Amino acid sequence: MKRFLPLLVLASCAQKPVNEADAVAFAPVRSVLETNCVHCHGDNRLSTMPPINDTQAIAKLIGTSWIVPGKPEASRFFQVVTFPDEMPGAMPPSGHAISKKDQQTLHEWIKAGAKLPAGNVKLSPKGPLPRSI
Ligand code: HEC
Repeated sequence: MKRFLPLLVLASCAQKPVNEADAVAFAPVRSVLETNCVHCHGDNRLSTMPPINDTQAIAKLIGTSWIVPGKPEASRFFQVVTFPDEMPGAMPPSGHAISKKDQQTLHEWIKAGAKLPAGNVKLSPKGPLPRSI
């Protein structure tokens, strides 16, 4: 029986409902946004800034030039985190570029179609405010 266990585990993973799979795909993205972006892009943001403090707000950006599913390089949301610090519009604003790993997380999520979990998931700022120097 023991040697069949891994197979059973694999089989049960394959049967996960779609929404749960989307939630898993979004989990690392949520962490990147909560650590680096949500402090400024929440309720008190400027009107020109895209809101990213819940998944309903993020859903409205998907399918626009902010987030083009399958095309991270064409997505403003991804472009701004790859700009060099000194470039106007680099996010987070100068001096606090996100890590290559975090960039990769956003890249993979958009590339895979920018899927969101079901319902409205709230994002809250985590850690200190990333700010300009
Ligand atoms: C310290 C506050 C702050 C943080 C942190 C921050 N932003 Fe911004 N963001 C702004 C401000 C202010 C603007 C509007 C001014 C501008 O366009 O330069 C903006 C604008 C943007 C825009 C629109 C840019 C454009 O070209 O129109 C995008 C997309 C964006 N932010 C994404 C992000 C992402 C993704 C993160 C996290 C990796 C992030 N921001 C973190 C303050 C912040």
